[in-house]
Formats: sequence, structure tokens, C-alpha cells
Amino acid sequence: MTTNIAIDGPAGAGKSTIAKRIAQKLSFIYVDTGAMYRAMAVYLLRQKISAQDAAKIEEACQSADITITYEDGEQQVLLNGENVTGLLRSEEVGSMASASAPNQKVREKLTALQKKLAREADVVMDGRDIGSKVLPDAKVKIYLTASVRTRALRRCSQLEKEGVQVSLEEIEADIQKRDELDKNRENSPLIQAEDAVLVDSSEMTIDEVVETILTIYRQRECT
Ligand code: DC
Repeated sequence: MTTNIAIDGPAGAGKSTIAKRIAQKLSFIYVDTGAMYRAMAVYLLRQKISAQDAAKIEEACQSADITITYEDGEQQVLLNGENVTGLLRSEEVGSMASASAPNQKVREKLTALQKKLAREADVVMDGRDIGSKVLPDAKVKIYLTASVRTRALRRCSQLEKEGVQVSLEEIEADIQKRDELDKNRENSPLIQAEDAVLVDSSEMTIDEVVETILTIYRQRECT
């Protein structure tokens, strides 16, 4: 039996940073499920398939082979054998991932891969439906969130570091739109699982969030 930690929450709450640190501290494998939806989006964009065309997306699920490997501890996503990890973070790919992720066939395909990874190794897995759907038996479930303003400020400072000039209002509007999509979709919406612990990182440092989650994990280990 493997031990799994599920971290769900809205975009920009800091899930990947936190999940990576926890995985490192516990020597677990970090699994970024958003990257899988993004790889599927790369395939759909390349095939010029619209996010509204359910029939074509279902066909694409048969021909897109998505697998995960690790290089120096970093997750790499392979799309039909090609490493597409470097292509996943663009806005275009993010929007397509958000629009195509509600498709039932896409979810079935990617959740099967996620469950397999969690059966094979101890993982810290982040996403939107990990505690509620993918790993219902995870030892620890965290719902990590932060206010829209905090998430927008974090995203702005990250983009400014990359030399991109952005408006806080636009980023806030974008975050709100993505939250709505993730929370209101029919298939596997973003929700806090009943047995998940809510962690609001708005007023917390990364170290404080990591320590909070590790404390919850250690408490569970003793029960
Ligand atoms: O976490 P992210 O921004 O990389 O995720 C990209 C998109 O994929 C996002 O719009 C929500 C979706 N997603 C999902 O539906 N389920 C997951 N487990 C992870 C991501």
C-alpha cells in the first residue's frame, strides 16, 4: 500500500510550490495533474480541435498518448513520446486546458494515469479533484486556497520578474473567470472534499504552509 497526499485548490493558491516542497521533505514523488490537462491541450491545439467539439476531443483521447517520467526529480510530460514540458505554461495552453478539462473522456483518460502513479509510489498529487475523485483514500487531503487579490498579486509579481508588464485588474478578472469555470463545471468540479483540511495561505509564508501540512501528515501517521 502506498501513502498519498492530495492537494486541491484554485489556480494560483501555491499548490505546486507547496506540493513540491512537501514531496521533497517526505521523499515522495510530486505529481502535477494540471500538466497532464495542459499536455492534452497542446495536442488539441496542434490538431486544431475546438474545445467545444466533444466528438473530436473523444477521438483525440484515443490518439494522444500522455505519459510521465522524472528527470532529476522533475516531472516531465511526454505527448506521443515527445517531451512537451516546456510548452505547458503559456496562456493559450492554460485556456485550452481549462476549456477541455471538463470533457468526461479527457478526465477518464487522465485520472486513470493519476491513479496508476499513486498505486505505484508514495505521491503528493495536486489538482482540482484529487481528494474528491482521484484519490478518495489519500492519507491527507488539503484544500489550499488564498484570496483572489493575494493570488493576483502573486501572479503579477511572478510575471514582472519574467519581464511581462500586466495589470492587476486583468489578472484578477482572469483568476475569477478560471475559478468560475473550475467550480461550476458538471464533471469533477473544484470542491473541498468533505474530509479535506482547509488551508488559507493568504496571510502565510510558504514555509508556514509547508509546516502546517507536514504537521497534519504527522498527526495522521500516528493514528
Ligand atoms: O493547475 P493548472 O492551472 O496547471 O491546471 C490547468 C487546467 O486543468 C485548469 O483549468 C484546471 C484543469 N485541471 C483539472 O480540471 N483537474 C485537475 N486535477 C488539474 C487541473
